[in-house]
Amino acid sequence: MKTGIFYGSTTGNTENAANLICALVGGSHATPVGDAEKADFEACDLLILGASTWGLGDLQDDWADSLNCLSGANLGGKKVALFGLGDQESYPGTFVDGIKDLHDAAVRAGASIVGLCSADGYDFQDSTAFVDGQFLGLPLDEENQSELTEERIQMWIDQVCREAQ
Ligand SMILES: Cc1cc2nc3c(=O)[nH]c(=O)nc-3n(C[C@H](O)[C@H](O)[C@H](O)COP(=O)(O)O)c2cc1C
Repeated sequence: MKTGIFYGSTTGNTENAANLICALVGGSHATPVGDAEKADFEACDLLILGASTWGLGDLQDDWADSLNCLSGANLGGKKVALFGLGDQESYPGTFVDGIKDLHDAAVRAGASIVGLCSADGYDFQDSTAFVDGQFLGLPLDEENQSELTEERIQMWIDQVCREAQ
């Protein structure tokens, strides 16, 4: 199964998480989404997409430019897993909202989403990425829970690999 990891990151937190994920799935590199074209998304069986959230619930800038490219790709029959960086203490009402934007674009492209997560262990008020009692991807919080990031990623990648088979 060909796996591609694409991320948008402003201060490096999402990039670090993407590199950790890449090491765990045995990939060669994670790609800044600004360098990706539609064909790069379509070439993968499993896409792992990461973004941070800025402003008040805004998708990270690099992705804002690439979102149309993602939603316009033909991802029928492909699996997509999402992760998002955010700050649940300072932005409790828009925690990791960016995950929802990536989710909607991937669904428009015809992909099946894997890697939904429980909200156990997070303390937030609202998130567009929290739907029917689950996050649409893996939330990570380097500001408040950096000590949990590695373990969260490891458990999530195990789940994603099982669900993507
Ligand atoms: C001005 C500003 C606005 C932010 N807005 C949000 C937000 O709405 N929701 C959220 O969950 N995190 C928010 N964050 C936190 C960032 O998403 C977090 O710092 C993240 O780790 C940055 O990842 P990056 O370095 O990959 O861009 C904000 C941070 C700043 C400085």
